[in-house]
Amino acid sequence: MTDRKATLSVGDKSIELPVYSGTVGPDVIDVRGLVKQGIFTYDPGFVSTAACESAITYIDGENGVLLHRGYPIEQLAEHSDYLEVCYLLLKGELPTDAENTLFHDTIKNHTMLHDQMRNFFQGFRRDAHPMAIMCGVVGALSAFYHDQMDVTNEHQRDITAHRLIAKMPTIAAWCYKYSIGQPFIYPRNNLSYSENFLQMMFGVPCEEFKPNPILAKAMDKIFILHADHEQNASTSTVRLAGSTGANPYACIASGIAALWGPAHGGANEAVLDMLAEIGDESNIDKFIAKAKDKDDPFRLMGFGHRVYKNFDPRAKVMAETAHEVLSELGLEDDPLLKIAQRLEQIALEDEYFVERKLYPNVDFYSGLILKAIGIPTSMFTVVFAMSRTIGWFAHWNEMVSGDYRIGRPRQLYTGSPARDYPKE
Ligand code: CMC
Repeated sequence: MTDRKATLSVGDKSIELPVYSGTVGPDVIDVRGLVKQGIFTYDPGFVSTAACESAITYIDGENGVLLHRGYPIEQLAEHSDYLEVCYLLLKGELPTDAENTLFHDTIKNHTMLHDQMRNFFQGFRRDAHPMAIMCGVVGALSAFYHDQMDVTNEHQRDITAHRLIAKMPTIAAWCYKYSIGQPFIYPRNNLSYSENFLQMMFGVPCEEFKPNPILAKAMDKIFILHADHEQNASTSTVRLAGSTGANPYACIASGIAALWGPAHGGANEAVLDMLAEIGDESNIDKFIAKAKDKDDPFRLMGFGHRVYKNFDPRAKVMAETAHEVLSELGLEDDPLLKIAQRLEQIALEDEYFVERKLYPNVDFYSGLILKAIGIPTSMFTVVFAMSRTIGWFAHWNEMVSGDYRIGRPRQLYTGSPARDYPKE
């Protein structure tokens, strides 16, 4: 923070506004005092607005940088594991070995769902989208743990974090099992976090499940790469819901709802749908032309990003992982992959995409990996949601443990001014 000021002239008024600097990144102008001058700022989509102060994640979109608590995402993906990243996001520092072991053990102790939760799954239609089920079931956790949830109590917030991190893979896998009519598979605590997720997804009670270590490692990387992404739409939704003092499980359910849309977490599912629609390499040019046509709403799914205007550092790690997984599974000649590779090449060379800095984003590659592992398309955003839960929680936790006010945006009203109700 500094004592620098920005001056805003509106008509004959000159207003001084404080300017603050973060550790890194752009300065911000504190516009909170404007309301007293009868002025609001106008920023639909929050493109220029910092809605909070945060010390969790930093993104430099121009230079393709993503840091969690200062650590580059590439280094975390290479050297860490998802649960250690969860600890880092939550606590602010990497754990010592003892803290790390304790954290892993604690998470393992919370993986089972309350047995009554099975009934919630059964209330859904079999063909319900798994995101709809996940949103409902996570919201329902608030009914199970409401009494033990005092948001001002740090210990209770920690337990909530442990429960959420531990139970999300169980909920996610059960959404899938329910949709295909297979029995729910219980967590096995001798497995790692990602191995356990794979066994709950693909295991059956009549056979022993042996997780493939390369696929488990790839899953763990997908979890790490989706763990947090600063003040995106779903995280901002969780913060806004949490600013009212709402139950944290309900707040996480609001994040799941916001993530679902194709412009956000739904993009990895949309990528695979798009590749299937393209169908054959000979159709690619037609789809590229559609993407460039201003009169056609079609967009190349998995390309472009609101913040990354150079490259998405997560996409780089994901691209490497995609190649590892596809070669492990002998799927290098998969027709959808061929289409994906050709699209990637075109987008990196075509003037339209280069000019607009539309690079393949993380969802472009994660969809391919998840498909290769055997996770159905409708589950892609569910995997994103379970990975992002720690990010949502860390932001909610940061907010409620500091000074905060209820979120209440303003508007530029363009409706009718006051008028009288027409009498008969
Ligand atoms: N295909 C074709 N053209 C595009 C695309 C695309 N995927 N994305 C942006 N454009 C064009 C857009 O038409 C506009 O062109 P012009 O300047 O001529 O009007 C220009 O690029 C800028 O687009 P914008 O809509 O102003 O960019 P935005 O920052 O508002 O949107 C985005 C970002 C991610 C919503 C958008 O790029 C998009 O819809 N991409 C496809 C969906 C997708 O992959 N989403 C996942 C994002 S990464 C996961 C996450 O973090 O949630």
